[in-house]
Amino acid sequence: MSRQPALSRLPASGEFGDFDGRVWLNTAHQGPLPLAASAAAAQACELKQYPHRIADADFTEVPERLRALLGRLVGADPEEIVLGDSTSHGMHLIANGLRFDPGDEVLVVAGDYPATGLPWLRLRDQGVAVREVRPAGQVLSADDVAASISDRTRVLALTWVNSFTGHTVDLDTIGDLCRGRGVAVVVNASQALGARPFDAASTTVDAVVSCGYKWLCGPYATGFAWLRPSFGAQLQPQQAYWLAMQAGRTLDQMRDSTIRHDLGVRALRPVMPGGLLRLAHLDGRAGGDARRRDHRRRRPRPAAGATPHRRPRRGGPGAPCATGRRRR
Ligand SMILES: Cc1ncc(COP(=O)(O)O)c(C=O)c1O
Repeated sequence: MSRQPALSRLPASGEFGDFDGRVWLNTAHQGPLPLAASAAAAQACELKQYPHRIADADFTEVPERLRALLGRLVGADPEEIVLGDSTSHGMHLIANGLRFDPGDEVLVVAGDYPATGLPWLRLRDQGVAVREVRPAGQVLSADDVAASISDRTRVLALTWVNSFTGHTVDLDTIGDLCRGRGVAVVVNASQALGARPFDAASTTVDAVVSCGYKWLCGPYATGFAWLRPSFGAQLQPQQAYWLAMQAGRTLDQMRDSTIRHDLGVRALRPVMPGGLLRLAHLDGRAGGDARRRDHRRRRPRPAAGATPHRRPRRGGPGAPCATGRRRR
């Protein structure tokens, strides 16, 4: 039988290696690094080989470019993007950054991917009631969630696309429901972003975390979180990472140790984001430019250092509106 033309001749195939004549479909396990990303990473390694070529700006400009690209990917301001090294980094940032009163509840999903649930389970030691929602069917539904929410529920943590089955949770319906009940929704999008579009301007969920090495086709040890500004303002940073705090300051200000309100590993070393810098090509395909137009109508982010506030309770003053899709 004559050999069939390789299926890898898809429009994007020129951006990747030839996979030794195979077709690579298992992006749920590993996204392949695009050739340009490999080249960028090699260039970053070369800088480390010849450190005299590293410019001061490499420490700040590269991470800021990366935040801008990720912002375009999800239709958010770069300021709303926190760089990290994994899904787990983002999930811990949120779980440990929220302030809970005794008896407050968090909902996780029975059988969910451990990276989504485990950071919240640790909060049981602090008196937070972490309860499992058990879906009636194969996929978590708004009815499952509605049946589990109580007056003490503060957060629902879920995975958008299931790693094992590919089943996809309906974020809009569940986000709308939770917004109406004053419950924040935190989404693990590691198996979705890069393959499914996400629009921070219209979503009703409050935070998305993702690793960078699956559908985003970045290298290992990369990831990020998007935080809705009003939600991000509720988080207490747990760490003060010096390089992140230094971002934007010059070497002669190195001893300025003011603690800034900054949640993440904002200033990654130049070698790290080489692969993720290729996110520009993904963004173009996901229609990111159209989303940017919507995004400009946003309210500004609360001032850095603003007093964190708790999410209003259902029916209380300033309670969220169930249909307020554009609320920030
Ligand atoms: C749904 C999901 N979340 C998270 C991860 C990875 O988590 P982390 O980036 O913390 O290693 C994977 C895959 O390994 C995954 O399939």
